[in-house]
Amino acid sequence: MSSDHLEIVLIATAWSTAAGVVGLAVGWLIRHRSLGWIPPLVAVVAVVALLAGMVGTARAMFLSDHDFGVVVWVSVVAGVVATAFATALGYTLVRTSRRLREDTRRFGEVGRFAGVAHGPAEFQALSAELARTSDRLEAAREAASRADASRRDLVSWVAHDLRTPLAGLRAMTEALEDGLAEEPARYHRQMRGEVDRMVRMVDDLFELSRIHAGVLRLEPECVALGDLVSEAIAGAEIAARDGRVHVGGSVEQGLVVTADPAGLTRVVRNLVTNAIRHTPADGTVEIRGRSVPDGVELAVTDGCGGIASENLPHVFDVAWRGESARTPEGLLGPGTQDPHAGDGSSGAGLGLAIVKGIVEAHHGRVHVANTGPGCRFAVVLPV
Ligand SMILES: Nc1ncnc2c1ncn2[C@@H]1O[C@H](COP(=O)(O)OP(=O)(O)OP(=O)(O)O)[C@@H](O)[C@H]1O
Ligand SMILES: [Mg+2]
Repeated sequence: MSSDHLEIVLIATAWSTAAGVVGLAVGWLIRHRSLGWIPPLVAVVAVVALLAGMVGTARAMFLSDHDFGVVVWVSVVAGVVATAFATALGYTLVRTSRRLREDTRRFGEVGRFAGVAHGPAEFQALSAELARTSDRLEAAREAASRADASRRDLVSWVAHDLRTPLAGLRAMTEALEDGLAEEPARYHRQMRGEVDRMVRMVDDLFELSRIHAGVLRLEPECVALGDLVSEAIAGAEIAARDGRVHVGGSVEQGLVVTADPAGLTRVVRNLVTNAIRHTPADGTVEIRGRSVPDGVELAVTDGCGGIASENLPHVFDVAWRGESARTPEGLLGPGTQDPHAGDGSSGAGLGLAIVKGIVEAHHGRVHVANTGPGCRFAVVLPV
């Protein structure tokens, strides 16, 4: 590059930069104005920078006055045309952003984003993000309304489940008071059984509300599964004998899991109680512990005859009790012979919801499947 050219480049750079700086200042001043101003401003700055560069270097170009005038006029006309096109472009941008704003306003009103992607990539990305947010909101709303409905159901079911035994208890206390009870000892036994059942139900509800509120406090430690299963079998002995069900188990040697011992004991107890309750006389309940690729599995298999496949997805729902209508067994009233009275055989449908809550609080999972003569509840906990 010759020294003449270098001088021209330097002078043109200085003049164009000056025009650019002025353009930048104007851009800063109108930064809160419409997006539509940006493209025409860019066009004007570009043409003014070109003109400034030419004016600054006019002498070095050895242009005649006439030629210089022609160049300036050509630049001015090109500038006006470019600004007109840039204004049209700005208008398109403004229209796209208005459409997006209108879609967003409707999203705020109806809670659903129904906009379609249009305009430049950034607007399309924003539109897609709003659509994703809308889907997430929809899912959260559905979950909240499901939780609300299940809470309402739970309250009415629990009220029902408590009202019936309470009415029975009142009838029995009145019979005892009036001296009408022929076998007071049986009444006492029955009353004790029902009170125990109600205490268990309230206890379960309390546990469930803590799980749902996310305040379940876990104190994880190393738990030897072999000991836990032996204790569960020993604890289920009376119920198993009453139901003439054989309860057995086996755990791989030395299997340990990091878990809250009380929580895990409750999980196993709830599963084993259910298994014994639903297994007919002379049936078998098996508890097995083994290690699996993603942790430790504890499975309870019974001889319940299988759970109807349409019911399988519901067994862990709060207050779901299968086909059995919400008419508690147990207290049928004074003087009625009820083989189940007070033995706790009718539940509130909370046991498996508690199992699921505790297992998930341990970042584990629980699932059920029909197998052999019954079903198999398997809990998998990470080690
Ligand atoms: N091992 C099982 N075999 C067959 N059905 C089962 C078994 N465990 C649970 N179920 C079905 O799932 C329902 C819900 O069980 P869940 O343990 O949550 O409640 P429950 O046993 O009825 O009452 P609770 O456990 O609160 O005393 C039961 O009522 C029963 O219909
Ligand atoms: Mg149960």
